[in-house]
Amino acid sequence: MDKIALVTGASRGIGRAIALKLAENNFFIVINYRKRREAALETLKQVRARGADGVLFQADVSKPGQVDEMFTGIEKEYGPVDVLVNNAGWGLISLVESMNDELWERHIAVNLSSVFYCSRRALPGMIEKKWGRIINITSIAGLKGLAGLAAYSAAKAGVVGFTRALAQEVAGTGVTVNAVAVGFAKTDMGLSFFQATGLPVEEFARKFTLTGDLVDPIEVGELVAFLASDKARSITGEVIVIDGGQLLAPSLAALLSS
Ligand SMILES: NC(=O)c1ccc[n+]([C@@H]2O[C@H](COP(=O)([O-])OP(=O)(O)OC[C@H]3O[C@@H](n4cnc5c(N)ncnc54)[C@H](OP(=O)(O)O)[C@@H]3O)[C@@H](O)[C@H]2O)c1
Repeated sequence: MDKIALVTGASRGIGRAIALKLAENNFFIVINYRKRREAALETLKQVRARGADGVLFQADVSKPGQVDEMFTGIEKEYGPVDVLVNNAGWGLISLVESMNDELWERHIAVNLSSVFYCSRRALPGMIEKKWGRIINITSIAGLKGLAGLAAYSAAKAGVVGFTRALAQEVAGTGVTVNAVAVGFAKTDMGLSFFQATGLPVEEFARKFTLTGDLVDPIEVGELVAFLASDKARSITGEVIVIDGGQLLAPSLAALLSS
């Protein structure tokens, strides 16, 4: 049996690209999604076109009960998860002074608590097999903080701390834990920020990146596939930035707070 990779939020965007790259490396892909079943089925179709196989599991990963049910189902039908990619995420531009409690808590639940719920559930199987990979998709917002995205930035910074702490907790078990901090990428989420700010993507890329382009989701897939492989055995507790130099380019603060 091929190793099992669970990618949360794999119905589209970066999650789909990760699922496809892992499929090329012969993993059996568990495609988690929240509500877009048709899109998740398209991911599965593309996984199969690459000669791999997979299955869909619907669950809202911000809800511990649904995460538990999903893992129980996967383990019963296919076995323990070998590679967990905590990719599901969500963000909305809102200034702190006008943000309500619900919006704050939703950001923390979807972007941070989900990482805890899924990792907690995946770890026993990985430790028993003496092999496992947990790869958390975070954002440069969690490294530098982005005005207008305080809740999202806080949650993504939390993912960084969680990653480093968990890597130490599982030392010597054969499990590695890493984070990938992505810059603005060409997905529904990435492009929604440009719609909200009214800034043309090309202008952003020219002014706020070093490469002159946004990140392509497939590049994130390539990096995650490497981290999931045996070649990355010695990489753990790391936060790897893939952002086309957006962290080093001029500040986005003025753009997002206006
Ligand atoms: N795009 C960027 O510019 C960018 C930059 C930095 C970091 N990131 C991070 O990269 C990751 C992927 O982002 P993306 O751009 O691919 O986003 P996207 O295009 O909006 O796709 C989000 C994915 O997450 C799923 N999802 C959302 N909430 C969920 C929940 N509660 N439970 C289960 N699945 C859920 C969605 O499922 P449905 O389709 O069913 O709704 C979808 O598959 C996120 O963690 C994001 O924070 C993105």
